[in-house]
Amino acid sequence: MHNDKIIAGKTIVVTGATSGIGLATAGALARRGGFVIGVGRSQARCQEAENFIKSNYPKADLLYLVADLSSLKQVKRLAAEVKRVTASRDGSLDVLINNAGTFCSWYATSAEGHEMQLAVNHLAPFLLTHELLPLLRKAPAARIITVSSGSHYGTWINWRDLQLRRHYNCLWAYKRSKLANVLFTAELNRRLKEEERIRAYAVDPGLVNTEMGLKATVGLATWIWKKRRHKGVSVEEGAATSVFLATEDLGDTQDIYWKKCQPKKSSRYSLSEAHAKRLWELSERMCGIKSIDYGLGG
Ligand SMILES: NC(=O)c1ccc[n+]([C@@H]2O[C@H](COP(=O)([O-])OP(=O)(O)OC[C@H]3O[C@@H](n4cnc5c(N)ncnc54)[C@H](OP(=O)(O)O)[C@@H]3O)[C@@H](O)[C@H]2O)c1
Repeated sequence: MHNDKIIAGKTIVVTGATSGIGLATAGALARRGGFVIGVGRSQARCQEAENFIKSNYPKADLLYLVADLSSLKQVKRLAAEVKRVTASRDGSLDVLINNAGTFCSWYATSAEGHEMQLAVNHLAPFLLTHELLPLLRKAPAARIITVSSGSHYGTWINWRDLQLRRHYNCLWAYKRSKLANVLFTAELNRRLKEEERIRAYAVDPGLVNTEMGLKATVGLATWIWKKRRHKGVSVEEGAATSVFLATEDLGDTQDIYWKKCQPKKSSRYSLSEAHAKRLWELSERMCGIKSIDYGLGG
């Protein structure tokens, strides 16, 4: 167990903070004294999570914002709300934790027509990071943490069918979205190279006992997750690496992929600069944003 480093004065956004790993992450960071902005997809779930954390830590400096992250429009609206909330403090954001994730056993599309796992697990972090970058730039040492998975190993991106319209396999869609998290993190660091005050990391939380595989699944997928989840670690253990990366002094580490609070080698495919650049450019187009060269930005 790592020490409870006090992080008073730091502002942290945690998406998917209404259950599982994200709720545990938000609670741990609130306990350490940070100002935590949790994000959830319904007012009721947000209220429940806020009550839960405050019942454990009555002094928690905590606020929840509602956004369905499958919608790019709502991601933008969320970013605007985060800007409004932080403006009443020092206007900066120290840590963004892109944690929200979904596993969907049927083919579904977002409001903008993107395959659902791609939309929630990859496009939302991509766009939210882009939108919140001006705030992260104002922090003395900002971090962007994206919760990926060991599922990113042994897979690749099917560039001819990125939306998986021709052939949908739920596990493959999930693995591909988690690979996208690592490709995004690596490329983000490359684009931020001139700005050493901001670093991006991808996290593998390991197998964690959450309800993720029960929310948008039917049949065999539900059955498998019901069996499998019990082999997983607790949500607190699942949150430990995100909390570690958000709070510890990491020196000048160049390691981008972390598991159990230790750096780990991510898949060979995830380290390909060509694939990362290609995904980045396609993601920009899907999110409707102009080409970004973060190294040149001010
Ligand atoms: N559990 C594991 O074994 C495991 C392993 C590797 C990686 N991960 C990753 O860890 C992250 C957290 O997963 P978890 O296991 O903690 O699952 P979880 O308990 O289902 O938590 C997922 C969170 O994301 C939120 N969310 C889902 N779809 C959303 C949307 N469209 N808009 C806004 N929020 C949305 C959920 O909201 P609700 O509370 O409303 O459902 C919840 O807060 C995910 O990125 C997942 O891929 C999990």
